[in-house]
Amino acid sequence: MTDALARAESLIDLTPDYPEPGVLFRDVSPLLADGDAVRAVSEALIEPFRGGFDIVGGIEARGFLLAGYVAAIAGVGILPIRKAGKLPKPAAAVSYALEYGSATIEAPGVLRPGERVLLLDDVLATGGTLAAAQRLVRDLGAEVAGSAVVLELVDLGGRAHAGDDVHALFAARENG
Ligand code: PRP
Ligand code: MG
Repeated sequence: MTDALARAESLIDLTPDYPEPGVLFRDVSPLLADGDAVRAVSEALIEPFRGGFDIVGGIEARGFLLAGYVAAIAGVGILPIRKAGKLPKPAAAVSYALEYGSATIEAPGVLRPGERVLLLDDVLATGGTLAAAQRLVRDLGAEVAGSAVVLELVDLGGRAHAGDDVHALFAARENG
């Protein structure tokens, strides 16, 4: 890992017992707020996929921020993958299970057939969100070029849902 990435990783903020007791919350806000760190992370996220994607898909909410930066440095556009109920004309919707209940993500009908989408998010936990985003892209008639996250919580088995080829810059145990 480069010094710039190691420094970026050190900027991820840890909050014990948030949003509920026993959960160690990881917040990438300080990393995003640091110009050198956000640039190093954005470049590393796309590194394995250079030339292999046509557009980036940012998963609401923090995936949007990464997608904006990555799109600008890669010279491509952005597909916003939104939580349900925010889009006037959703072209596809996918529901997925959460620990308690379920969630739905939607996307607008802006992709061309076969367009190659690089999916971006901050954290891979159970993989439900990323797997749903992959399905959403395919339901729209486009192709998943890859999936990249800043941080993987390795105890949660996210790759079983989102695929073994998820590109994760950093890895951490769920609670340590
Ligand atoms: C968090 C995180 C990822 C997702 C990962 O988002 O930002 O998107 O959970 O979890 P999973 O791998 O178990 O699906 P969250 O749904 O909390 O919403 P937010 O990004 O809007 O804060
Ligand atoms: Mg999220």
